[in-house]
Amino acid sequence: MERQREFTEKLRRRADALDRRPLAMVDTFGCQQNVADSQRIMGMLEEMGCGFTEDPMAADIIVINTCAIRENAEKRVYGLLGRLTHAKAAKPEQVICLCGCMAQQRTVADKVRSSYRHVDLVFGPQALWRFPELLHTVYTQRRRLFSIDDEHGSIAEGMPVVRESRVKAWVSIMYGCNNFCSYCIVPYVRGRERSRDAAAILDEVRGLVEEGYKDITLLGQNVNSYGKDLEGGMDFADLLAAIDEIPGDYYIRFMTSHPKDATKKLFDTMARCHHVAKQLHLPVQSGNDRVLEAMNRRYTREKYLGQVAYARQVMPDLVLTSDIIIGFPGETEAEAMDTVSLVEQVRYDALFTFIYSPRPGTPAAKLPDPAARAEKQLWFDKLLEVQNRISAEIHQGYVGKTVRVLVDAESGDARWPLQSRTEGGRLVHLTGPREAIGTFAEAKVLDSNTWALFGEIIPSKK
Ligand code: 5AD
Ligand code: SF4
Repeated sequence: MERQREFTEKLRRRADALDRRPLAMVDTFGCQQNVADSQRIMGMLEEMGCGFTEDPMAADIIVINTCAIRENAEKRVYGLLGRLTHAKAAKPEQVICLCGCMAQQRTVADKVRSSYRHVDLVFGPQALWRFPELLHTVYTQRRRLFSIDDEHGSIAEGMPVVRESRVKAWVSIMYGCNNFCSYCIVPYVRGRERSRDAAAILDEVRGLVEEGYKDITLLGQNVNSYGKDLEGGMDFADLLAAIDEIPGDYYIRFMTSHPKDATKKLFDTMARCHHVAKQLHLPVQSGNDRVLEAMNRRYTREKYLGQVAYARQVMPDLVLTSDIIIGFPGETEAEAMDTVSLVEQVRYDALFTFIYSPRPGTPAAKLPDPAARAEKQLWFDKLLEVQNRISAEIHQGYVGKTVRVLVDAESGDARWPLQSRTEGGRLVHLTGPREAIGTFAEAKVLDSNTWALFGEIIPSKK
């Protein structure tokens, strides 16, 4: 990191010598981990002396932080890259960088090398911390640079960060994934699990609470395996309990949990810890045991249902969400309907649903996949129909009640000008004073739909 600071300093001197402040555009695709990574990239760019723009024609540096989880995400990036040829043609000194999960794949790097010649720098998530050095090389040697080697085991502490909200913050607690679910590209692009040092995490969270952040989400591909690679024996539940000791008025959330590693100890700790929001994202992916095994998930429907029952027993108000894949190779209609029946049984507050997308290089991409796309779409629509009804029913149950919310932003909607979240993370559109932004408030829920609640702030009696 010391070395990186030297490169940052050199780039800053370069920027200072210009007659105007250079502008950077950072475009982010994909998950919260990418959002958090982009905030680090922006932190580094700011230290290099850059301002920010959302206009590619005005940008001196463009950074596209990509996602590889499904083919669609990749297609959108290629579309954007295609459109950027115009910006670069009009502004030849512009530097275009491609980073994130898509960039880590050799096939993508090769395609960019040959067909997207206006891209100057390509680097994967594991090289993020070396961005200043890579950018410096591009500028000084005036050449294209591809940095996508596996860098097992590296964790950089002390990267600068630009946080886009003053209320919510993301804190990565671990990187990478060891699970190799058979459909998933993540372990190939983000490398093996590496846990951050607990003391560094505690310092970061303490600093955020002191700065006034009220909603802090711990991030990792599988937070439940936090600490397995560290000496000292602290597991994820212990980390949560240690964070909970930090005084202040704030919520701690976390994502994502893998059911195979979610323990009673974790649920007991969540239940007991005052700052830990009673919200759990527990991706089930499928409700059928044969498909779960083919996915290499290493739990059964029964075991999953047992976990949900226990979590709800110790946290009766738990808000529960999940990820589901429909149309895994070889999945039959009956198997897909097992997933629908699981959803009926669990009654999730909300779901993130996906149709299976083959990812080259993963074991599932080599399996026969006889079901037609149109057929999978029907199963998918059935799942959505069931979940939308359940979400609407659960939301209807809030109407007339008073809930504690954290008001996080203006909504831009004249009827409901404020946006807030319940402890469980449900979205509540509100009427109330602008000054409420950044504070906790009591709100009366007046209306609801499938996706959100609507209400009014109850003025506090002073
Ligand atoms: N196709 C469809 N969905 C996928 N996911 C991961 N890989 C794929 C794929 N190849 C989904 C999983 C995961 C979420 C982040 O994305 O449900 O939990
Ligand atoms: Fe992908 Fe499975 Fe790892 Fe999640 S746990 S990132 S789905 S391999």
